[in-house]
Amino acid sequence: MGSVGAKEVPVLLSPEGIRVDGRRLDELRPLRVVAGPLHRADGSAFVEWGANKVMAAVYGPREVHPRHLQQNNKAIVQCKYNMAAFSVDERKRPGLDRRSQEISKVIAEAFESVIFAEEYPRTSIDVYIEVLQANAGTRCAGLVAASVALADAGIPMADLVPAVAVGKVAGEIVLDLNKAEDNFGEADLPMALVPQSGRLVLLQMEGHMTREELSRALDMGVKGCHVIYDKMKAALRDRYSAARPTEVAA
Ligand code: CDP
Repeated sequence: MGSVGAKEVPVLLSPEGIRVDGRRLDELRPLRVVAGPLHRADGSAFVEWGANKVMAAVYGPREVHPRHLQQNNKAIVQCKYNMAAFSVDERKRPGLDRRSQEISKVIAEAFESVIFAEEYPRTSIDVYIEVLQANAGTRCAGLVAASVALADAGIPMADLVPAVAVGKVAGEIVLDLNKAEDNFGEADLPMALVPQSGRLVLLQMEGHMTREELSRALDMGVKGCHVIYDKMKAALRDRYSAARPTEVAA
Protein backbone atom coordinates (compact mmCIF):
# COMPACT_ATOMS: atom_id res chain seq x y z
CA MET A 1 0.00 0.00 0.00
CA GLY A 2 1.26 3.49 -0.83
CA SER A 3 -0.38 6.59 0.56
CA VAL A 4 -1.53 9.93 -0.77
CA GLY A 5 -2.38 12.27 2.09
CA ALA A 6 -4.68 10.35 4.40
CA LYS A 7 -5.97 8.06 1.62
CA GLU A 8 -4.44 4.62 1.17
CA VAL A 9 -3.76 3.91 -2.49
CA PRO A 10 -3.73 0.18 -3.24
CA VAL A 11 -1.03 -1.36 -5.43
CA LEU A 12 -3.11 -1.81 -8.57
CA LEU A 13 -0.80 -4.07 -10.53
CA SER A 14 1.74 -6.69 -9.40
CA PRO A 15 5.13 -6.93 -11.13
CA GLU A 16 3.71 -10.01 -12.91
CA GLY A 17 0.85 -7.92 -14.34
CA ILE A 18 -1.85 -9.29 -12.01
CA ARG A 19 -4.57 -6.88 -10.90
CA VAL A 20 -5.94 -6.23 -7.36
CA ASP A 21 -8.67 -8.82 -7.81
CA GLY A 22 -6.37 -11.43 -9.37
CA ARG A 23 -7.29 -10.79 -13.01
CA ARG A 24 -5.02 -10.47 -16.01
CA LEU A 25 -5.06 -7.20 -17.95
CA ASP A 26 -7.56 -8.41 -20.57
CA GLU A 27 -9.78 -10.45 -18.26
CA LEU A 28 -13.42 -9.66 -17.48
CA ARG A 29 -14.92 -9.95 -14.02
CA PRO A 30 -17.22 -12.96 -13.63
CA LEU A 31 -20.49 -12.17 -15.44
CA ARG A 32 -23.88 -13.80 -14.97
CA VAL A 33 -26.87 -12.75 -17.04
CA VAL A 34 -30.40 -13.95 -16.30
CA ALA A 35 -33.22 -13.15 -18.73
CA GLY A 36 -36.82 -12.69 -17.55
CA PRO A 37 -36.63 -12.83 -13.72
CA LEU A 38 -39.49 -10.32 -13.23
CA HIS A 39 -43.02 -11.31 -14.11
CA ARG A 40 -44.84 -7.96 -14.00
CA ALA A 41 -42.62 -6.25 -16.59
CA ASP A 42 -42.90 -6.92 -20.35
CA GLY A 43 -39.23 -7.87 -20.30
CA SER A 44 -36.51 -8.06 -17.67
CA ALA A 45 -32.97 -9.13 -16.94
CA PHE A 46 -30.64 -9.40 -13.98
CA VAL A 47 -26.89 -8.96 -14.29
CA GLU A 48 -24.32 -9.88 -11.70
CA TRP A 49 -20.96 -8.66 -12.87
CA GLY A 50 -18.11 -8.79 -10.35
CA ALA A 51 -19.65 -7.04 -7.35
CA ASN A 52 -22.22 -5.16 -9.47
CA LYS A 53 -25.85 -6.27 -9.22
CA VAL A 54 -28.21 -4.64 -11.68
CA MET A 55 -31.85 -5.29 -12.54
CA ALA A 56 -33.51 -3.99 -15.70
CA ALA A 57 -37.18 -3.94 -16.60
CA VAL A 58 -38.80 -2.90 -19.87
CA TYR A 59 -42.36 -1.82 -20.58
CA GLY A 60 -43.78 -1.12 -23.98
CA PRO A 61 -44.45 -0.21 -26.62
CA ARG A 62 -47.09 1.65 -24.57
CA GLU A 63 -48.82 5.02 -24.31
CA VAL A 64 -46.42 7.97 -23.98
CA HIS A 65 -46.20 9.81 -20.64
CA PRO A 66 -45.87 12.77 -20.60
CA ARG A 67 -48.06 13.01 -23.69
CA HIS A 68 -46.24 15.96 -25.31
CA LEU A 69 -43.19 13.73 -25.89
CA GLN A 70 -45.19 11.55 -28.30
CA GLN A 71 -43.82 11.34 -31.87
CA ASN A 72 -46.09 10.63 -34.79
CA ASN A 73 -43.60 8.68 -36.86
CA LYS A 74 -41.84 6.51 -34.26
CA ALA A 75 -41.66 5.20 -30.72
CA ILE A 76 -39.60 7.15 -28.22
CA VAL A 77 -37.11 5.36 -25.98
CA GLN A 78 -37.08 6.53 -22.37
CA CYS A 79 -34.55 5.28 -19.83
CA LYS A 80 -34.34 5.71 -16.08
CA TYR A 81 -31.08 4.62 -14.48
CA ASN A 82 -31.24 4.66 -10.70
CA MET A 83 -28.76 3.75 -7.98
CA ALA A 84 -30.33 2.34 -4.83
CA ALA A 85 -29.45 4.21 -1.63
CA PHE A 86 -27.81 1.01 -0.35
CA SER A 87 -25.86 0.26 -3.54
CA VAL A 88 -22.68 2.14 -2.60
CA ASP A 89 -20.39 2.42 0.44
CA GLU A 90 -21.60 5.85 1.47
CA ARG A 91 -25.39 5.96 1.28
CA LYS A 92 -26.43 7.54 -1.99
CA ARG A 93 -29.06 10.27 -1.73
CA PRO A 94 -32.16 8.83 -3.34
CA GLY A 95 -33.53 10.36 -6.50
CA LEU A 96 -32.40 11.73 -9.84
CA ASP A 97 -29.04 13.48 -9.64
CA ARG A 98 -27.08 14.83 -12.60
CA ARG A 99 -25.02 11.67 -12.96
CA SER A 100 -28.13 9.46 -13.17
CA GLN A 101 -29.71 11.83 -15.69
CA GLU A 102 -26.61 11.75 -17.87
CA ILE A 103 -26.35 7.95 -17.73
CA SER A 104 -30.08 7.59 -18.48
CA LYS A 105 -29.67 9.84 -21.52
CA VAL A 106 -26.63 8.09 -23.01
CA ILE A 107 -28.19 4.67 -22.51
CA ALA A 108 -31.46 5.75 -24.17
CA GLU A 109 -29.45 7.14 -27.11
CA ALA A 110 -27.51 3.88 -27.45
CA PHE A 111 -30.79 1.96 -27.73
CA GLU A 112 -32.35 4.48 -30.13
CA SER A 113 -29.75 3.42 -32.66
CA VAL A 114 -30.75 -0.28 -32.61
CA ILE A 115 -34.49 -0.31 -31.85
CA PHE A 116 -36.80 -0.30 -34.92
CA ALA A 117 -38.78 2.60 -33.47
CA GLU A 118 -40.65 3.36 -36.73
CA GLU A 119 -42.64 0.16 -36.23
CA TYR A 120 -44.45 1.64 -33.21
CA PRO A 121 -45.37 5.29 -33.85
CA ARG A 122 -46.92 7.31 -30.99
CA THR A 123 -45.67 4.90 -28.31
CA SER A 124 -42.98 4.79 -25.67
CA ILE A 125 -40.52 2.04 -24.85
CA ASP A 126 -39.57 2.48 -21.20
CA VAL A 127 -36.38 1.07 -19.78
CA TYR A 128 -35.79 1.00 -16.02
CA ILE A 129 -32.35 0.20 -14.63
CA GLU A 130 -31.95 -0.31 -10.90
CA VAL A 131 -28.42 -0.62 -9.57
CA LEU A 132 -28.71 -2.69 -6.39
CA GLN A 133 -24.99 -2.96 -5.75
CA ALA A 134 -22.30 -0.88 -7.44
CA ASN A 135 -18.63 -1.53 -7.98
CA ALA A 136 -17.72 0.49 -11.12
CA GLY A 137 -19.00 -0.16 -14.60
CA THR A 138 -22.66 0.15 -13.68
CA ARG A 139 -23.67 2.04 -16.84
CA CYS A 140 -22.22 -0.88 -18.85
CA ALA A 141 -23.91 -3.45 -16.62
CA GLY A 142 -27.11 -1.42 -17.00
CA LEU A 143 -26.82 -1.46 -20.79
CA VAL A 144 -26.22 -5.21 -20.84
CA ALA A 145 -29.18 -5.88 -18.52
CA ALA A 146 -31.49 -3.48 -20.38
CA SER A 147 -30.50 -4.90 -23.73
CA VAL A 148 -31.46 -8.43 -22.67
CA ALA A 149 -34.65 -7.06 -21.07
CA LEU A 150 -35.59 -5.35 -24.37
CA ALA A 151 -35.07 -8.60 -26.24
CA ASP A 152 -37.07 -10.45 -23.55
CA ALA A 153 -39.90 -7.93 -24.08
CA GLY A 154 -39.87 -8.78 -27.80
CA ILE A 155 -38.91 -5.25 -28.89
CA PRO A 156 -37.63 -5.47 -32.49
CA MET A 157 -33.96 -4.46 -32.57
CA ALA A 158 -31.09 -4.71 -35.03
CA ASP A 159 -28.91 -6.31 -32.36
CA LEU A 160 -28.12 -6.60 -28.65
CA VAL A 161 -25.78 -3.96 -27.22
CA PRO A 162 -22.94 -5.39 -25.11
CA ALA A 163 -20.91 -2.83 -23.16
CA VAL A 164 -17.76 -2.73 -21.06
CA ALA A 165 -15.34 -0.17 -19.65
CA VAL A 166 -11.69 -0.25 -20.62
CA GLY A 167 -9.10 1.96 -19.04
CA LYS A 168 -5.56 2.61 -17.95
CA VAL A 169 -4.27 1.38 -14.62
CA ALA A 170 -0.67 1.63 -13.38
CA GLY A 171 0.39 2.48 -16.93
CA GLU A 172 -1.31 -0.52 -18.55
CA ILE A 173 -4.46 -0.79 -20.67
CA VAL A 174 -6.99 -2.98 -18.85
CA LEU A 175 -10.42 -4.47 -19.48
CA ASP A 176 -13.44 -4.02 -17.18
CA LEU A 177 -12.25 -1.75 -14.35
CA ASN A 178 -13.32 -2.50 -10.80
CA LYS A 179 -13.94 0.20 -8.18
CA ALA A 180 -10.33 0.51 -6.97
CA GLU A 181 -9.11 0.75 -10.58
CA ASP A 182 -11.82 3.28 -11.42
CA ASN A 183 -10.90 5.39 -8.36
CA PHE A 184 -7.13 5.27 -8.60
CA GLY A 185 -6.43 4.45 -12.27
CA GLU A 186 -5.42 6.92 -14.99
CA ALA A 187 -8.38 6.49 -17.35
CA ASP A 188 -11.86 5.00 -17.54
CA LEU A 189 -13.53 4.54 -20.91
CA PRO A 190 -16.97 2.92 -21.01
CA MET A 191 -18.08 1.78 -24.44
CA ALA A 192 -20.99 -0.07 -26.05
CA LEU A 193 -20.87 -1.97 -29.32
CA VAL A 194 -23.40 -3.16 -31.88
CA PRO A 195 -21.55 -6.40 -32.73
CA GLN A 196 -23.15 -7.17 -36.10
CA SER A 197 -22.40 -3.75 -37.60
CA GLY A 198 -19.25 -3.04 -35.59
CA ARG A 199 -20.65 0.40 -34.65
CA LEU A 200 -19.96 1.98 -31.26
CA VAL A 201 -23.11 3.49 -29.76
CA LEU A 202 -21.61 4.74 -26.50
CA LEU A 203 -18.10 5.99 -25.88
CA GLN A 204 -17.10 8.16 -22.93
CA MET A 205 -13.74 8.83 -21.35
CA GLU A 206 -12.44 10.22 -18.10
CA GLY A 207 -8.71 10.63 -17.52
CA HIS A 208 -5.96 10.54 -20.09
CA MET A 209 -4.19 8.18 -22.48
CA THR A 210 -2.23 8.48 -25.71
CA ARG A 211 -3.84 7.87 -29.12
CA GLU A 212 -1.92 4.62 -29.43
CA GLU A 213 -3.23 3.51 -26.02
CA LEU A 214 -6.73 4.59 -26.99
CA SER A 215 -6.56 2.45 -30.09
CA ARG A 216 -5.41 -0.59 -28.06
CA ALA A 217 -8.08 0.10 -25.45
CA LEU A 218 -10.80 0.16 -28.12
CA ASP A 219 -9.58 -3.15 -29.57
CA MET A 220 -9.58 -4.69 -26.09
CA GLY A 221 -13.07 -3.35 -25.41
CA VAL A 222 -14.46 -4.68 -28.70
CA LYS A 223 -13.07 -8.15 -27.91
CA GLY A 224 -14.58 -7.96 -24.42
CA CYS A 225 -17.94 -6.91 -25.88
CA HIS A 226 -18.01 -10.02 -28.07
CA VAL A 227 -17.51 -12.26 -25.01
CA ILE A 228 -20.30 -10.40 -23.20
CA TYR A 229 -22.52 -10.64 -26.32
CA ASP A 230 -22.25 -14.44 -26.23
CA LYS A 231 -23.35 -14.49 -22.57
CA MET A 232 -26.31 -12.24 -23.36
CA LYS A 233 -27.43 -14.51 -26.19
CA ALA A 234 -26.95 -17.58 -23.97
CA ALA A 235 -29.16 -16.01 -21.27
CA LEU A 236 -31.95 -15.47 -23.81
CA ARG A 237 -31.55 -18.99 -25.18
CA ASP A 238 -31.76 -20.41 -21.62
CA ARG A 239 -34.90 -18.43 -20.92
CA TYR A 240 -36.71 -19.59 -24.01
CA SER A 241 -35.44 -23.16 -24.10
CA ALA A 242 -36.73 -23.52 -20.52
CA ALA A 243 -40.25 -23.15 -21.97
CA ARG A 244 -39.70 -25.99 -24.42
CA PRO A 245 -40.50 -29.05 -22.22
CA THR A 246 -44.09 -27.80 -21.79
CA GLU A 247 -44.40 -27.33 -25.53
CA VAL A 248 -43.09 -30.84 -26.11
CA ALA A 249 -45.47 -32.26 -23.51
CA ALA A 250 -48.42 -30.47 -25.16
O1 CDP B 1 -20.68 2.91 -12.53
P1 CDP B 1 -19.96 3.59 -13.64
O2 CDP B 1 -18.50 3.18 -13.70
O3 CDP B 1 -20.63 3.44 -14.96
O4 CDP B 1 -20.03 5.15 -13.35
P2 CDP B 1 -19.01 6.11 -12.56
O5 CDP B 1 -19.70 7.44 -12.44
O6 CDP B 1 -17.66 6.05 -13.20
O7 CDP B 1 -18.96 5.49 -11.10
C1 CDP B 1 -18.01 4.52 -10.75
C2 CDP B 1 -18.40 3.89 -9.46
O8 CDP B 1 -18.35 4.86 -8.41
C3 CDP B 1 -19.83 3.35 -9.38
O9 CDP B 1 -20.01 2.13 -10.05
C4 CDP B 1 -19.99 3.22 -7.90
O10 CDP B 1 -19.34 2.05 -7.42
C5 CDP B 1 -19.24 4.46 -7.39
N1 CDP B 1 -20.18 5.55 -7.07
C6 CDP B 1 -20.46 5.79 -5.72
O11 CDP B 1 -19.90 5.13 -4.85
N2 CDP B 1 -21.38 6.77 -5.37
C7 CDP B 1 -22.00 7.50 -6.32
N3 CDP B 1 -22.88 8.45 -5.96
C8 CDP B 1 -21.71 7.27 -7.68
C9 CDP B 1 -20.79 6.30 -8.02
